Amino acid sequence: MTRMKESARQAARLLNKARKAVALTGAGVSVESGIPDFRSREGLWSRYDPMEYGTIGAFRNDPAKVWEMLAELLFVVEAEPNAGHFALARLEEAGILKGIITQNIDLLHQKAGSRNVVEYHGSIAVFHCLDCGREYDLAHVRERRVPPDCSRCHSLLKPGVVFFDEQIPVQALAESARLLAGADVLLVAGTSCQVVPASLIPSRVHAQGGRIMEINPDPALEGLADVVLAAPFAEAMAKIAEQCLKE
Ligand code: APR
Repeated sequence: MTRMKESARQAARLLNKARKAVALTGAGVSVESGIPDFRSREGLWSRYDPMEYGTIGAFRNDPAKVWEMLAELLFVVEAEPNAGHFALARLEEAGILKGIITQNIDLLHQKAGSRNVVEYHGSIAVFHCLDCGREYDLAHVRERRVPPDCSRCHSLLKPGVVFFDEQIPVQALAESARLLAGADVLLVAGTSCQVVPASLIPSRVHAQGGRIMEINPDPALEGLADVVLAAPFAEAMAKIAEQCLKE
């Protein structure tokens, strides 16, 4: 049996025995859906300096410049979920996975049918005007030229994603805390675990006695994970779900 197959069986056993299994996902889970991540070689931050394009200060200072990068992000909504997203949705449907805390803003978990999704870094589905506060949905923004401005006061709109130096939305903090309370298995997939406070979640679950599994071609959790699948997300996650649902 290959190493990956054996690890998938171990992961499935952990998930099936779990009282409360939760997933934490990052940009890597959407790479096979055609959306670049941030810190891999061809990642977004290899083309845009996060200090110049990724902070709320940069956006307030020069929103038109940051919209040069944001325009690329608007296209994520045309991407389709991959086999891994659908596998997570199946595990939730089967009552094995209680929910997903995602750092992604691409709505792919929801598109795949996952229902309990905490958007820890916000989402691209809503925009608002930083000056008058008026809110707009994605459909409205996609009809307008980029950078989109507010119909009321003509200031540039900000997407509902969390920039660096911005607070995690209070609702996301509350929902993730509820999900993590009592979580005894955490599946970590497609994240470099470099951005606080999301990156603190694995050690928090570990500290409460939870077991950790990781799916990442370049594992980030070092000794924290009980099971590591050093492989791309889609195939590995589909294999784990297949094992879970077979047992
Ligand atoms: N399958 C699984 N993992 C993958 C794949 C794949 N096909 N391709 C890449 N990865 C892994 C990379 O090895 C890396 O560890 O996904 C991870 C992506 O890491 P980042 O690019 O840092 O993305 P993420 O961890 O989600 O970043 C967190 O940083 O820039 C901010 O707000 C942004 O939400 C983002 C946060």
